[in-house]
Formats: sequence, C-alpha cells, structure tokens
Amino acid sequence: MEPVLWSIKYRPKAWTDFIGKDNTISQLKSLVDSSFFPNMIFYGPAGTGKTAAAELFSKEILADSFGANFKILNIRDVWDIPISKAQRSVQDLAKLGREQRSELDEYMSVVYREAKTARKARGRSGNPTRRELLSEAIRFFASTATIADEKVKILILDEADAMTWSMQQGLRRTMELYSNTCRFIIITPTLSGWSPAIISRSLTLHFPSQTTDVVQKLILEIAAKENVKIDDPAVAAIARESAGDLRRAINLLQIASTASDSVTEDIVYEYSETQLTTRARNIVTLALDGQYEPARKEIRNLIAIDGYSPQEVCLEIERDLVKRPFTPEVLSMVLDRVAEIDYRLLQGKNAFVHLAALLASLRAIAAAET
Ligand SMILES: Nc1ncnc2c1ncn2[C@@H]1O[C@H](COP(=O)(O)OP(=O)(O)OP(=O)(O)O)[C@@H](O)[C@H]1O
Ligand SMILES: [Mg+2]
Repeated sequence: MEPVLWSIKYRPKAWTDFIGKDNTISQLKSLVDSSFFPNMIFYGPAGTGKTAAAELFSKEILADSFGANFKILNIRDVWDIPISKAQRSVQDLAKLGREQRSELDEYMSVVYREAKTARKARGRSGNPTRRELLSEAIRFFASTATIADEKVKILILDEADAMTWSMQQGLRRTMELYSNTCRFIIITPTLSGWSPAIISRSLTLHFPSQTTDVVQKLILEIAAKENVKIDDPAVAAIARESAGDLRRAINLLQIASTASDSVTEDIVYEYSETQLTTRARNIVTLALDGQYEPARKEIRNLIAIDGYSPQEVCLEIERDLVKRPFTPEVLSMVLDRVAEIDYRLLQGKNAFVHLAALLASLRAIAAAET
C-alpha cells in the first residue's frame, strides 16, 4: 500500500491548524462570521497554504451546500486537457474504470458540449479551441443556478497564473455577469501580470513565504507525532532547503525519515537533492561551459523522455542559477532572461526552442563576464 503523504495527512483542517499566517487567517475567519465576502485573490509562493485556506474557507461559508455549490478548477490542468479527451461523451466515460476517469474528465465532457453549442450559435463549425474550453469551464459553473438559493457559489481558480491577458479579460466579464450567484477565489503566485481591473474588484490576501522559525516549529511538531528522531542541525537543514515552502519541508522530513531511524543533517542534504536538481545543474554547467549541444540534448530528454514539464525544468534551472557565484549585475540579467523564457513557455510557445535560447544566452553572458 502507498504510504500516506504527510503533507496531505497534516493539511490544515481548521483555522487553528494554520501556522504563521495570523493576519490573513483572522481576516478570513471574520469574513466567515459576517457571512459576506467579495471575490478574492490569494497570492504567494508554493506551499504556503493558499489552496488549503481557500478550501477551508469555502467549506465554512457554504456548510451544507458545499457539495453542490463549490468547485475548484486547476487552470493548468484544464488548459492541458487535449480536445480528444474533452470530446468523450459521458457514456464513453462511464465505460471506463473509476481510476481511468477523473472528476475533471467528467466536467470537461459537459463543458465541451456547451462550448460546441456556443460556437454553433456564433455561426462557427468545428471543435472548440482550448481557449473556448477554458472560458466555458469557468462560465458554466458560474452560470448554473445555486442549489440552496440564498447561498452563493464559490469557484476556486487554482494556478490561475496560467491565464493570459486576454483570458483575464474574459474572466472579468464572467465575474461581472454572474456577480449575484458566484464568488471567485483566484490563486496565483504573484499579483504581477494581473489585470488591474480584476485586482481592483477583489480582496487581495497575501500568503508570504514562511519564516525559518515557522518551518522549524511545524517540522518538530510533525516529527513528534510520527515518532521521528531528528536533531537540531537536521531541522535547520530542512528549513534552509525548503526555503519557506511547507509542503517541501514536510516531504523532506518524510523522505529523510524513511532512510534512517534518526534524521541527521547529512541525510537531509542527501535527500533534498532530486534527480531533476542534479540534471538541471549539469545542464547549466554545460551551457556555461559552451557545450551547447549536450545541454540541449539533456533538456530534450528531461521533457520528452522523463516527462518533466518545461516550466518545471525552467524553474529548476533558475534555482541552480541563483546559487552560482555571479555578480549581482550578471545575476539580474540572467534572471531577467529566465523570467522572459518562463513567460513564453506559459504562452504555450515551442518549449524546446525557448529553453534552447535560454541556454544560448547563458553562454553569452558567461563569455561577457570573462
Ligand atoms: N500555514 C500552514 N500551516 C500548516 N501547514 C501548512 C500551511 N501552509 C501549507 N501547509 C502544508 O503544506 C501543504 C500544501 O499547502 P497548500 O496546498 O495549501 O499550498 P499552496 O500555497 O496552495 O501551494 P501551491 O502554490 O504549490 O499550490 C499542506 O497540505 C500543509 O501540509
Ligand atoms: Mg495550491
């Protein structure tokens, strides 16, 4: 049997379970008490409790109607669904085993039909585009009537940073059109890149990266509950390696504890190194060294053979670059370039071409420095 992930087992289930978020959490609690709330944007880095807080908030506000009046859509997942999958009818899906179809598959099957009808109404034939599917996925839930009619519905748009500017314009119209029936909680790493029109219509709540103290406190608590022996330097190492990401910190504790009965600093460092980290470091070293071809080949392997997403690879390359001994000026040029490439990847442009361009510019920057 698969062991339970501790990051899931210890997911906050009550407001008191959230650590290090006093302001944000007390704001959310008072909104629950007043039972009035606006559209909201939760922003902050990975593993800081955004999704967990949005889910708990919705459960408390909606109470009995939670099952019917709540939906969470991961924008990246919706965007990545191939048309051929969305096209499957509910009957097709029913023939598949439970593990072969997800809730999202079932929802997208309905959304596909709606989008196709809307397309026909505009006098256009053919399949809906991915963009049309995404906007219909949002509109469809927002537009249907609520079950208990005095209540509003809540739609969470997770990983909403995958929306382009024009998708945001569409979202803004949907938010306005259904403002009586549906509230939106948008989850995104940062506010930058968001349309001012959406920001000004929403309450923004910040989920900052956790401080070292908070991470250490949580790690010690979980270690005690799981009977894991861990010394102070190892706790400090987990806090350092996870850089404020509680999910990563908890995962590290769990992996390290399977390796040994008592967790030490060395074990933490051994396990904080993932395969992707090692290979990204190798790619950066090759590129800086001017060995462009093998670096490109390794990127291709990571994506095409090992199935990492281009964004993951880009993020890992960035994590490696910030550890290199660049001067502040060079580092800022490098990071600027990474941000530009990351943006292009989001736009769904050819990932290989852009990651290769990133490698080529690293070489140029390194050459300029010497
Ligand atoms: N404030 C917190 N207090 C306690 N545990 C937390 C807190 N924030 C995050 N965690 C832990 O981290 C896990 C991930 O949290 P969550 O999924 O809410 O993060 P997130 O901010 O949505 O991250 P991402 O941006 O990667 O989706 C939780 O299941 C929980 O174990
Ligand atoms: Mg999340």
